[in-house]
Amino acid sequence: MQTTLQAKVSKRLLQKADRLFTGTLAGRVIEILQNARRAGASEVTIENKDGLVSVHDNGRGIEDFSKLLDLGDSDWDQAMEKAEDPAGVGLFCLAPRKLTIRSRGLQAVITKDGWTGRPIRLTQVAAEEQGATLIFADEPWVKDLVEKHAVFTGLKVIVDGKDCAHKHFIRGQAVAYPRLGCRIEVCEQQAVGPHHQAFKEHYYHDEVLINFHGQVIAFGYSPVGERLQFLVDMTGQATGLRMMLPARTQPVENKALRELRKVLEIEGYRFIQRRGSHKLTYKEFLRAAELGIELPEAQPRFQTGTLRGDTPEPPEVVMPKDFPLARCYRIHPRLRDTTHRIEANVHLLAACGRFQSPFVPVDIADSYDGYSWAKLPTIDQVWVDLGQEIATDYLLGQKITAVKSIFIHARTSDGKTWESEAPLAVMYDDEAHRSFYNDEHLYVTPEAANELYPSQMWYFCGGFNEEGDTYDTQEYLFEQDLEAFWATVAGPGEYLRRKITSAVAGVEDDWTQITITSDGGVLIHCENGTLRTLRPPHVKKDKST
Ligand SMILES: Nc1ncnc2c1ncn2[C@@H]1O[C@H](COP(=O)(O)OP(=O)(O)OP(=O)(O)O)[C@@H](O)[C@H]1O
Ligand SMILES: [Mg+2]
Repeated sequence: MQTTLQAKVSKRLLQKADRLFTGTLAGRVIEILQNARRAGASEVTIENKDGLVSVHDNGRGIEDFSKLLDLGDSDWDQAMEKAEDPAGVGLFCLAPRKLTIRSRGLQAVITKDGWTGRPIRLTQVAAEEQGATLIFADEPWVKDLVEKHAVFTGLKVIVDGKDCAHKHFIRGQAVAYPRLGCRIEVCEQQAVGPHHQAFKEHYYHDEVLINFHGQVIAFGYSPVGERLQFLVDMTGQATGLRMMLPARTQPVENKALRELRKVLEIEGYRFIQRRGSHKLTYKEFLRAAELGIELPEAQPRFQTGTLRGDTPEPPEVVMPKDFPLARCYRIHPRLRDTTHRIEANVHLLAACGRFQSPFVPVDIADSYDGYSWAKLPTIDQVWVDLGQEIATDYLLGQKITAVKSIFIHARTSDGKTWESEAPLAVMYDDEAHRSFYNDEHLYVTPEAANELYPSQMWYFCGGFNEEGDTYDTQEYLFEQDLEAFWATVAGPGEYLRRKITSAVAGVEDDWTQITITSDGGVLIHCENGTLRTLRPPHVKKDKST
């Protein structure tokens, strides 16, 4: 019977060690530069020649060759252990390639089974310069790629005779967090240069970049609702921050990472405090205060009018110059529903109505409720009076009725009533059943034909359909339908009259009368008494008849 068990590493892992890495060139560049830096090198020279890559560093050199292929063991010092948490696997990113390593007058040639446990003989070679040299077969280590991973290492890296850029990861003001072994800088996302940007998969995401000694780890975390970039630069002090091994492409969830998140939030708000103005939600404003960071109120953010839409657009509500926001109105939350009928009528009243003093409804996101500027008088009641019906039709499946007149009324919390004629209003046929099918009903006055652009009418009929034809085609077809609708509204025969009068628009304007005869001829009577005759083209008779 078994009485004990003990953790150990099986030799079988050695056979699979090459698969601890994803096998990308970038991964190999990172590991090899990292070893050079850990060995205290200041300069790394890379040469590509005949399918071989040689990497030479001017560090301390290899003290104990046996540590090279000791999976899981390292030969760096104690401080390195605490700061960087070496895993002792990095070199295996080169497996199962043939690798020649030279240092301090010794050379090892590691071949396929050397990687998996066969003893490797060390030979003496002429002691070259200090440091270590690695030679292996690989695709060319091109300068651009190497530079990406060299730029923040602090090393001078030369590829085929050309120097790679080297930069400071943090350029501005940084706050030291020795407990986490890092310094933190916050800046605007657009303030970071291309070398930082290269590590972000998405421009707006990956708000945090950790410079783990030249290897940059990006991850998404936005404690503050603005586009901020958090730069975390590891200092080499002992740290609890750990990256997932072996490739260190993401941070490990632990106490230190939780603490880092907390301080990033604080630094984010402090950055905004220094900057002065912001557009944070009220909740975030309160959160900052809770963290002891006093912020001014957010800059007022609102949209004039209560409807949105870019193409096609609804008629525009204009904010008069220098008109104070405090005199604008917000729709009372009680009136808001999912159908936007109230929003539509309020918007139309403001855009098309005529008033003694300006009536300006605005839309402010609920998340700003709490700021003093967001507290505006409200629109508490909205109703519509319709005149006599003229005709009903469907436009793009939207029921639309022309009526003699439309009045929209809005009562506001300051005791005023705003009312005006409007060319259009949105209603529901049967309020009780409207959740089952869309019985939204548009009402227009004949004046809408002049007061509203076709595109504005199109907006209310559903607008552009992403799944349909091109924008221009859809717009054209809608305009055709709309024209037919207006003709129906105008009365019988009107559509025909419009077609004919639009057709003669091309005739020179000295005509007084145009007659069309039943055989297709057209007689144009001109002012000076002359008569021009247009005949249908002569139709040739078919030869066989
Ligand atoms: N360029 C170098 N100069 C000096 N010693 C080196 C160099 N490269 C590797 N070594 C030695 O080989 C050992 C193994 O390197 P390897 O990259 O496999 O692991 P590591 O760097 O210790 O850990 P990690 O898994 O984090 O890379 C190192 O601990 C170091 O002792
Ligand atoms: Mg290593």
